[in-house]
Amino acid sequence: MSKKNDDFFKEKKPWSEVKDQLLGCYFKPYVQKILYTRKPLEYIDCFAGKGKFDDGKPGSPLIALDLIEECLTTTKMASPQIRTTFIDLNYADDLRNNLQGYQDVNIVSGKYEDHILRLLRGSRNRNVFLYIDPYGIKALRCSLFDSFAIAPFNSIELLINLNSFGFIREACNALGIQLQLDDPTLFDDLVEYDPTKLTATDKSVQDLNEIAGGNYWQAIIKDYKAGRINGYEAEERFAEQYCRRLSQSYAYVLNMPLRIKPGQRPKYRMIHLTNHPDGCLLMVDNICSRWEAWQDVQNGGQFTLFQEDVNNQSVDEDEIRRKVEDHYSQFSEYTSLNESMAQFFMKYGPICKTKDIRDALKDLEGYGNLQVLRDPAVTGTGRPSKFMEEKTNKQKVSLRWAR
Ligand SMILES: C[S@@+](CC[C@H](N)C(=O)[O-])C[C@H]1O[C@@H](n2cnc3c(N)ncnc32)[C@H](O)[C@@H]1O
Repeated sequence: MSKKNDDFFKEKKPWSEVKDQLLGCYFKPYVQKILYTRKPLEYIDCFAGKGKFDDGKPGSPLIALDLIEECLTTTKMASPQIRTTFIDLNYADDLRNNLQGYQDVNIVSGKYEDHILRLLRGSRNRNVFLYIDPYGIKALRCSLFDSFAIAPFNSIELLINLNSFGFIREACNALGIQLQLDDPTLFDDLVEYDPTKLTATDKSVQDLNEIAGGNYWQAIIKDYKAGRINGYEAEERFAEQYCRRLSQSYAYVLNMPLRIKPGQRPKYRMIHLTNHPDGCLLMVDNICSRWEAWQDVQNGGQFTLFQEDVNNQSVDEDEIRRKVEDHYSQFSEYTSLNESMAQFFMKYGPICKTKDIRDALKDLEGYGNLQVLRDPAVTGTGRPSKFMEEKTNKQKVSLRWAR
């Protein structure tokens, strides 16, 4: 029997607002950009919910559909094609009601894991975006994510809500340990559609290996059991190693801990997967702007002395510049600007906006540390180009370390 957890949709909670803002603010520039590929877009919300909350606030389906409508009315591209699918185990009827009036909407009643491969079979050469927002972790089979990465799509991106504390709690159950955390609210929104809890059996261990894509999590739980790390450190280590595992299939993996108050423990992690540097950079800027906006809300608009990144670390401009210099001094061959910046964020995480890196690179070029090739090399008036930004089909930049 599946558990519906209707309470989730009674009113939209701050956690859901942050999640949906991250999706919404990324999705618009993503759609605008992807339409330039002249290939159709297949958008699938794999755990769609009701479409909207009972308090009238939009859920992820309405947010995506409204943005798609906006992009379709403003794009200059001829005959853009976007197909949307919404899967939900419990709320297909609500979805049908709430999404009336939108065109080309496909609603699937059932489990994501049972339908997704069939749904993607017709997506050869399309751009595919999957939004994965389950209650818990049990439906997240890593082998499915691996298989999407090698399918013959034009591109594939995933935004996954990872309930990493939920994983740690189940991992402790599976290895016969009790998880102890000092924040009692942490599990408030952690609801599994399947009410059975994992028990200490070989089957539970196998299920978790399937979800994590390996058995690396067992060493983390053993360290927790031995008292070498606490529950929060266990979660952080798991999230880091899970991302490393996903990077076997996806070139760019970003990890954003979702916390609402500065200094608070993360509640979920949003993980973004793509094989395209431009998608990674778009998400980095989105993560940084979302984080800034939430900091403003929490500080009541007050000025804060130190800027902090999504991991609550103070961000020091000099430190960023040192990291930029260190990263770029490895480039002895010309490499595209976007590729090199995406590699930077893979190494250090989304610690600043792409503009901060580009500004630092302009300075390094000025000091003679970087050699830069630009296409077009000269402006319309015959002067040497100075841009430090790539634009699809318009501007290219590649650079290498000079000394
Ligand atoms: C966190 S809610 C999604 C909320 C939605 N993204 C929103 O913003 O409104 C998770 C949804 O997944 C559905 N669900 C649970 N197990 C599922 C499965 N295996 N496949 C598809 N949907 C599932 C639940 O009915 C629930 O509506």
